Amino acid sequence: MTTDTAITRDAAERLDAEDPLRALRQRFVCDEPDTIYLDGNSLGRLPAATPGFLDQVVREGWGTGLVRSWETWIDWSRRLGDRLAAHTLGARPGEVVLSDSTSVNLYKLAAAALDARPGRRTVLADSDDFPTNRYLLQGLAAQRGLKLVTLRSDPDLGLDQDELARTLGGATGGDIALVVLSLVSYRSGALLDMAAVNRAAEAAGALVLWDLSHAGGVIPLRLTADGADLAVGSTYKYLNCGPGAPAFLYVRRDLQTRLRQPVWGWYGQRDQFAMGERYEPVDGLDRFLVGTPPLLSLAAAEPALDVLEQAPVTLLREKSLRLGELAARLAEAWLTPYGFRPASPPDPVRRGSHLALAHPDAERVCRALRARGVICDFRPPDRLRIGMAPLYTRFTDVWDGLDRLRRLMGSRGHEQLSTARPRVT
Ligand SMILES: Cc1ncc(COP(=O)(O)O)c(C=O)c1O
Repeated sequence: MTTDTAITRDAAERLDAEDPLRALRQRFVCDEPDTIYLDGNSLGRLPAATPGFLDQVVREGWGTGLVRSWETWIDWSRRLGDRLAAHTLGARPGEVVLSDSTSVNLYKLAAAALDARPGRRTVLADSDDFPTNRYLLQGLAAQRGLKLVTLRSDPDLGLDQDELARTLGGATGGDIALVVLSLVSYRSGALLDMAAVNRAAEAAGALVLWDLSHAGGVIPLRLTADGADLAVGSTYKYLNCGPGAPAFLYVRRDLQTRLRQPVWGWYGQRDQFAMGERYEPVDGLDRFLVGTPPLLSLAAAEPALDVLEQAPVTLLREKSLRLGELAARLAEAWLTPYGFRPASPPDPVRRGSHLALAHPDAERVCRALRARGVICDFRPPDRLRIGMAPLYTRFTDVWDGLDRLRRLMGSRGHEQLSTARPRVT
């Protein structure tokens, strides 16, 4: 990439032409040429093969096969989990399954981890973590009379890892049962060092539960090599499995039989179809399942993984870093004069795949921008998130999107919008 700040559109076009991943965009439905989509960090695009595959599952699997199709469907949660483990998460077969939502998986694993550390009374979390994570931990702490300690994280720069390590190594360290963290912050995009956190927690005797929702598919992950205990994450963001698709859940192999989750459903039962009288969890990962998976939603992971597996995550990360660098430089050159300021870590290697920009009128700007065909999102109090999904986001998308944003600011178009919050964003 050139080093001058005013990167021309021609230069962005050249970056697209040289992009080794450029052909993968054709594997997605991108049928509105005037729409610039910079929100794949919230909902990934529809893979072009998904409608056909779902049609087949519905007509042949459901329509013709009827209940007999469960003979095939029964292991899809695990089979697709194994594929995700191998390509995206750096985990071993039998360590990842697709089930429930990220929120529910987080609850199941957090509760299981707390039960595994009965003498300890403290849970350590990030004050700025995604709301559902904070609420679930507040609930668990209240139900069990535990102390929830939240480390203050900088809204732009994320958690201070030295402070985290000091807390784990300090006087209270021995009382910490569980640490719950997002690897990439949903708001700022700040990226933590997973291996370092895992080491510090292990030394303190605590388990770590990672939320990988904003990392899966854009950050090279090595759950096994980095000593990860537990993880959950969303599949509808950079993994493109579709709105509300079942989330992933990871439990390290040697922990599986030592942990017991609190929702005792028949999918976790040993010899499930014997319909035995008492709950007795199966030995492996299936004990973290609860009930029948939402099969049609789960099925969408198949074509999504077919596309994702075309690109090693290291290549996706490389492109994501370059997209982020372009966005950061254009924002600095074009948007600072309109009162924007970067609200993500300045060092690209400390960021995930979205860039946050703070602006006092960010909410109205986001709505006005959508009306002009640029879809990014707003997060309170004053952040625009520019999400770059390297499977399909082009360098020219970033250039054009930020160009439309600077034009909007130049015309003050957002000022005509009401300040009332729309009910649906
Ligand atoms: C980081 C993070 N964790 C958890 C969730 C919650 O996921 P779900 O609503 O699918 O349970 C989200 C949703 O966007 C998220 O961004």
